[in-house]
Amino acid sequence: MNSSLQIGICGLGTVGYGSYTVLVENAKEIARRAGCDLVVSHIGTRRIKAHQEVGEVRVSQDVFAVADDPDIDIVLELIGGEELAKELVLKAISNGKHVVTANKALIAVHGNEIFAAAKKNNVVVAYEAAVAGGIPIIKAIREGLAANQLQWLAGIINGTGNFILTEMQEKGSEFSAVLKQAQELGYAEADPSFDVEGIDAAHKLTILASIAFGIPLQFDKAYTEGIGDITIEDIHYSEELGYRIKHLGIARQSEQGIELRVHPTLVSKDKLIASVNGVMNAVMVQGNAVGSTMYYGPGAGALPTASAVIADVIDVARVFNCPESSVPALGFQTDSLSDKPVLPITEIESGYYLRISAQDKAGVLADITEILGDFGINIEAVIQKEPHHHDTDQVLSVIILTHEIKEAVMNEAIVKIEELDAVGGKVSRIRMDKL
Ligand code: HSE
Repeated sequence: MNSSLQIGICGLGTVGYGSYTVLVENAKEIARRAGCDLVVSHIGTRRIKAHQEVGEVRVSQDVFAVADDPDIDIVLELIGGEELAKELVLKAISNGKHVVTANKALIAVHGNEIFAAAKKNNVVVAYEAAVAGGIPIIKAIREGLAANQLQWLAGIINGTGNFILTEMQEKGSEFSAVLKQAQELGYAEADPSFDVEGIDAAHKLTILASIAFGIPLQFDKAYTEGIGDITIEDIHYSEELGYRIKHLGIARQSEQGIELRVHPTLVSKDKLIASVNGVMNAVMVQGNAVGSTMYYGPGAGALPTASAVIADVIDVARVFNCPESSVPALGFQTDSLSDKPVLPITEIESGYYLRISAQDKAGVLADITEILGDFGINIEAVIQKEPHHHDTDQVLSVIILTHEIKEAVMNEAIVKIEELDAVGGKVSRIRMDKL
């Protein structure tokens, strides 16, 4: 048993400094849990900011100095990004150090290679903070639900996107103003298009699907659609029909394969997840033994993310002297991963919300519903909104909710609807999920 372990922190941004703060402030409680003191003895950062106080800790501008420091036992990779982070983590692993990371892009894109290197070097790479900030969802799925065949999971796993949708819904706020606020609060990615376009959520979903279904990490196969096209109108019409629009990551397994998709989704207001607002995240997981479960908590921010980072550090400290006793990185033994294919988005089945701009004249609605009927698409609800003046023509919005249908069929029907003379522009489509 070690009396202390030496921690090296690479990156002193929002999460890095949050992790340092938690390790220092909760040192006594943490030591009681870890079985030894966890001491930050080396920080790699380009600069210490004015508000940051790190005492006498050694500071290097080069993060690789931390990975190469012979005194360091556990390296915290909190620099973010992909290529440099990958190089840093592989360096630390080859130096025999355990690694804790909050980097979802790193794990989703390079995780297979990183875990193989960690196994070869008999070290642990822990990544709880990579998904859903402070919610211990990795441990919940990988360990807590290990007895189940997991059927599907669905989550609000990007705090920034949920914050934007909530502010649009509750205050009618402008998209760009809310995004700026999320950036100021430290929620958004360095490149906020990752949040808005669903890439960040797809990174996290890729990780969740792997630990849920025992498949290799396959970020390149995830379908990703952002929230940039959602209008306040869509939010209000959905509300009127009994639904909320949430930016969901959904992973399901069936006989045919694995669904891996991130897109705006209409969710019934009755569902608990429809009430998850602001920066909060929630993940629903359905298992054949446990039934339906949901995990809720802050999905971003310095201290919630640090909570997950330091929990991993404590885990690593607990297994420090016998790393082979730890849980496999993806929960399943590496030689037991499944090669079930990830399905293309055209193969999934979903209900749909359609918003169609059409001229206000007799027979338009009938033409639209006839096309849907020809494709065997069942309508669940229709509303038609008062025409508003639009240059010379009077234009109305037709909102249609459909029952479940294969996406490829819906695509063909949408093309036919867009070809109608009375229909103007693109049909807006949002998927619905009964969860
Ligand atoms: N940008 C991410 C989010 C940070 O908003 O959820 C946490 O991963």
